[in-house]
Amino acid sequence: MAVRRTVSGGTVQDGVLAFLDDRDSVRVLQDFAERNLLSIIGLMRGGIEQAIKDLSGRTSPSRLIVDVSRSKNVQRDVIHLADLCDTDTAVVLVGKDEGIELYRELISLGVRDYLLKPLSIESLYNAFDLRSGVAKGNRLVGVIGTSGGCGSSTITAGLGWYLSEVSKRYTCVVDYDTHFASMALLYNRKPTLAIFDGLRHPDRVDRLFVDRSMDKVNERLTLLSGRLDEDAEGGKQAIKYRRLLRNIEPCFRYTLCEAPRWQDRACQALLELSQILVIVCAPDIMSFRNAVELFKIATEEGKGHTRIIVVLNKQGTYRQGEIGSEQFEQLTGVRINHIVGFDPTVLQALNQGRIFVGTGSSLYRGIEMLAADVIGERMIKHKGSFARMKEKLLPSIG
Ligand SMILES: Nc1ncnc2c1ncn2[C@@H]1O[C@H](COP(=O)(O)OP(=O)(O)OP(=O)(O)O)[C@@H](O)[C@H]1O
Ligand SMILES: [Mg+2]
Repeated sequence: MAVRRTVSGGTVQDGVLAFLDDRDSVRVLQDFAERNLLSIIGLMRGGIEQAIKDLSGRTSPSRLIVDVSRSKNVQRDVIHLADLCDTDTAVVLVGKDEGIELYRELISLGVRDYLLKPLSIESLYNAFDLRSGVAKGNRLVGVIGTSGGCGSSTITAGLGWYLSEVSKRYTCVVDYDTHFASMALLYNRKPTLAIFDGLRHPDRVDRLFVDRSMDKVNERLTLLSGRLDEDAEGGKQAIKYRRLLRNIEPCFRYTLCEAPRWQDRACQALLELSQILVIVCAPDIMSFRNAVELFKIATEEGKGHTRIIVVLNKQGTYRQGEIGSEQFEQLTGVRINHIVGFDPTVLQALNQGRIFVGTGSSLYRGIEMLAADVIGERMIKHKGSFARMKEKLLPSIG
């Protein structure tokens, strides 16, 4: 691995050196390095103490990632570590402490970033200033629900609204449920014929088509939702679902596409193309079983390039028989990333032509967390209160 001189007169070895003390973080880092073709100089068990011992006898790496969760005095240890590193080394710390004060202090000490556990690929992309998954910054987010009425359309619509309205990202929502066009209803819009033209002639879909034929829900949110009388034109060839997404995606920062689970070809397109796939399930055994199946298929199809986010929606709907997220995780080994509680205000909002009644609703709070995860922002609980501070880790592109 190449060793090069730096402006400070020292040397760094190109690659990642990591000191991590749990298997999950190690796995995420390996995946991250593989995707970005980064060489791993070393993957050591242990945290900052081990790093200090090890670095005193070796060349500083270009990227260093260190777990500080076991340190008794993080600031002191980080100052010590800084003495051993070249100024060109990008140091990223991993810990459990959510305090904003600590975060600020570490940044002021020259640390590139401080990431909360559990470590995610997205957070590493942001920390090391690399673009996610593909060379360009646009992202395709697929959404598939695992049982009827689990809320996948509501989650998609909420996420689209949040990304465009709150996060100010140019977003497109594509509704591949061409039987019901629920997304149009959720945004209180009329279904349009654009989806028919788009699926029939995907290669004609460009910026002009987007501007002229697609529906604008707000300044930054564009919608493609409508009914096809029969899916002969669009549905017979999977390639058309894929091509349509491929041509829409460059026009937006985020393209969210929901495919109903019975629509095989549309789902297939999402499994193949999505950089992030959101699997929405309800808290019942049927939905969970399907979620595990879908997770397996998505993991195989995505070949490690798709990040899967599992959302448990409507938790607390039933008085009895619901399966808890912990129980589910223990039984299946599939992690639930976000839980959205049953929201008694959802129908009221829908009747008013809105998605949420207010920012305090459990649906809104769930969407807020999901959006932060999709974008790569971090939500920090401040001093135990519910007030959350967002630390933006991605430059705003949208
Ligand atoms: N978190 C929630 N709390 C309460 N109700 C919810 C929640 N999420 C969705 N709903 C309600 O559940 C119903 C089904 O939601 P939605 O249509 O989004 O589900 P879906 O998975 O897309 O259904 P389908 O399988 O028919 O496409 C709707 O009435 C919606 O308002
Ligand atoms: Mg639906």
